[in-house]
Amino acid sequence: MRVFTVSDIHVDFDANATWIAGLSAQDYRDDLLILAGDVSGSLRLLEGCLIALANRFRTVLYVPGNHELWVTRDDENKTSLDKFEEVRIIMENCGVRGTALHDDKLSIVPLLGWYDYSFGKPCNELNEMWMDFRTCKWPQSMGMREVASYFVAMNQPLSRPASDTVISFSHFLPRIDVMPHYISERNRILYPVLGTNLLEQQIRQIRSDIHVYGHSHVNRHIKIDGITYINNAFGYPRETKIAAKRLLCIYQD
Ligand SMILES: [Fe+2]
Ligand SMILES: [Fe+2]
Repeated sequence: MRVFTVSDIHVDFDANATWIAGLSAQDYRDDLLILAGDVSGSLRLLEGCLIALANRFRTVLYVPGNHELWVTRDDENKTSLDKFEEVRIIMENCGVRGTALHDDKLSIVPLLGWYDYSFGKPCNELNEMWMDFRTCKWPQSMGMREVASYFVAMNQPLSRPASDTVISFSHFLPRIDVMPHYISERNRILYPVLGTNLLEQQIRQIRSDIHVYGHSHVNRHIKIDGITYINNAFGYPRETKIAAKRLLCIYQD
C-alpha cells in the first residue's frame, strides 16, 4: 500500500482533465490518494473528477479548496457555506472521504481551513485582483477570520493518533515560511490569502510527521521543526516551472 498526493488539479483546463483521465485504472488499486483541494468551481466537473479517482484508488481522501466554494457559476443566491455542504454531498455520493482514517501503522487527517490574513494584510492590488473576493459569498457576519475559524473548528482529532506515522493535509498553508526564498516581491502580494496560523496550531497538536498542503501551486518538500511539509500541486497548464505535474508517493507500507 502506498500513499500518493496531488492538489490543485483544476480540471477546468482540458490538459489537466486529460491527465486525470489518463491515470492507470490498474496501478493504484491498493493505494490511497490525498487530494488537497482545488479540483474545480463546477460541481459537475468536481463530481466527474472524484468518480474517476475513486475508481482508480482504494481510498481517496479530500478537502475542498477555495475554487470549490466559488458560487457565481452555479447560483448567485447561494453562499459559499451552502456550496461547501453541496461538495460534502458529492464526496459522499462518490465514496470520497473527508474524515480521518486510522490503522496501527498510519493515520491520515484532513484539515479544513481558509485564510485569515495571519500571514499579512492584503494590499489594494490584491483586493482588486483576487478572484475569491468576487466569487465567494459569505454570510454578512463573517469576515475572513470568522471563515477560517468556522472551518478549522470542524477538524478532528486534535491530538496525536496512536499510529506509527501521522500524515495531515490541508488545502491552505499552515505557515508562510514553507514558501521558498526565490518567490518574487511581485508574487508575495498573494501571501495574505495563502493560509492561516490556526492550521499550524492544529498540526502541532496532532504532532503530524508529514503535512501536505496545496493552494500556492509551488511544489515543495521542506522539514521545519521536525515536520515535513509537502506541496505537490499540479497547477495551471502554464505553471511548468513550479509544478512537476505528477502523482507523488509520500508513504509506502
Ligand atoms: Fe489552486
Ligand atoms: Fe487554492
